[in-house]
Amino acid sequence: MADPTGFEPAISSVTGWHVGPLHHGSVRRVRRIAGAPGVVVDPPGRRPSCNGPVLASRDGALHSRPMAPIIDLRSDTVTRPTPEMRRAMAMAEVGDDVFGDDPTVIALEERAAELLGKEAGLFVPSGTMGNLVAQLAHLGRGQETIAGREHHIVLDEAAGHAVVAGTSIRQLAERPDGTLDLDELRGAFRDPLDEHHPETGLVAMENTHAHSMGQPITPAYTARVAAIAHEHGVPLHVDGARLWNAAVALEVSGRDLAAPADSVTFCLSKGLACPIGSVLVGSRELIRRARRGRKLVGGGMRQVGVLAAAGLVALQDGADGMIERLAEDHANARRLAEALADLDGTESAGGIAQPEPGRLDPDRVRTNFVLFRVARDRAAFLEALRARGVLMIDYSHGQVRAVTHHGIEASDVDRVIAATAAALHETATRRIAEATPA
Ligand SMILES: Cc1ncc(COP(=O)(O)O)c(C=O)c1O
Repeated sequence: MADPTGFEPAISSVTGWHVGPLHHGSVRRVRRIAGAPGVVVDPPGRRPSCNGPVLASRDGALHSRPMAPIIDLRSDTVTRPTPEMRRAMAMAEVGDDVFGDDPTVIALEERAAELLGKEAGLFVPSGTMGNLVAQLAHLGRGQETIAGREHHIVLDEAAGHAVVAGTSIRQLAERPDGTLDLDELRGAFRDPLDEHHPETGLVAMENTHAHSMGQPITPAYTARVAAIAHEHGVPLHVDGARLWNAAVALEVSGRDLAAPADSVTFCLSKGLACPIGSVLVGSRELIRRARRGRKLVGGGMRQVGVLAAAGLVALQDGADGMIERLAEDHANARRLAEALADLDGTESAGGIAQPEPGRLDPDRVRTNFVLFRVARDRAAFLEALRARGVLMIDYSHGQVRAVTHHGIEASDVDRVIAATAAALHETATRRIAEATPA
């Protein structure tokens, strides 16, 4: 039967070459060199291109028909800078940002602060560093942050809060809408008079909330959390790696989302398609302390206006910028989830992404994350999908994650649906094989 994706599944071994998974989320890429007699394999660890040429054939021969590009849904971090960004980067006016005189960085920081209604901003290389320097700015050693137990700062930042900031995190269970129970939050503050306890020094939120399938968190809830934190004399930090996805999904401004918080980070390098960078915003005094923290962790950069220039392109108003278009990613994710839900072999994501078992519920998709489980061997499914030129990634709780982003068009979603159907079909027997005792 012809593969509906138009791809022959790539075999794992082509004479002399290998087209197999290397490690978590990484593939080797076989590419044809124009005029050369064979194929070459990109070095291990290099990411496949969203728009590069693909792959090998079933029998080791090159395909004679044109290859479709890889569709990479592992994350929205795989986005490539737009031509306009590249032009702006090439032309960027620069200075030495550690001396504070890179005009493009200053312009980006001011733009971010203005958009989120804060006094000042700080350009940092990554979301992780943004969260870390926020913690360094807010907290003293031995203090404690209250956060959701599935937050990125808890699970995915190499314990920077402990290793670098010297703090602990009191973790509360999130609900399926990505929020915390406010009574539990009230009960999580430590007694400042009890010398046995760490002092509560910060409350952290995540918006959108990744593990609940990217739920956007409302300004009203953020205001309630901030009010509770402030009653205890404690600031609120929002990890807004995908804050703009939340703003677009909720049809509110970034300013509304950020208003109750004392600091917010957002990533330029995710849905906004910049090659690198995040911005932390807050009061002038907080940003002064965070700048010191950034220096401490080695994040002081020099002629970094070449990178900030891409951020300024992304943060333009309307259709010129990259914020408004996030609605397309959300629509694509929703349509993908609707189709996946109808396929034999997909299931509810489980966990807080979709607590009810059974069919994947497309209504859970509010932004650009689609999380689901497959009723078969997950690694085999991902490999079968990869062989058809579509990349998704394994995620917590036995889930598969597909993230839509700039560069993924509606027609790509059609290809992904067809590839998923074929990969599910190919791996259907794995479940039976697993259930049969050896
Ligand atoms: C919710 C959240 N916060 C922070 C980060 C960290 O961003 P970066 O990868 O730029 O360090 C991520 C990255 O995926 C994220 O998903």
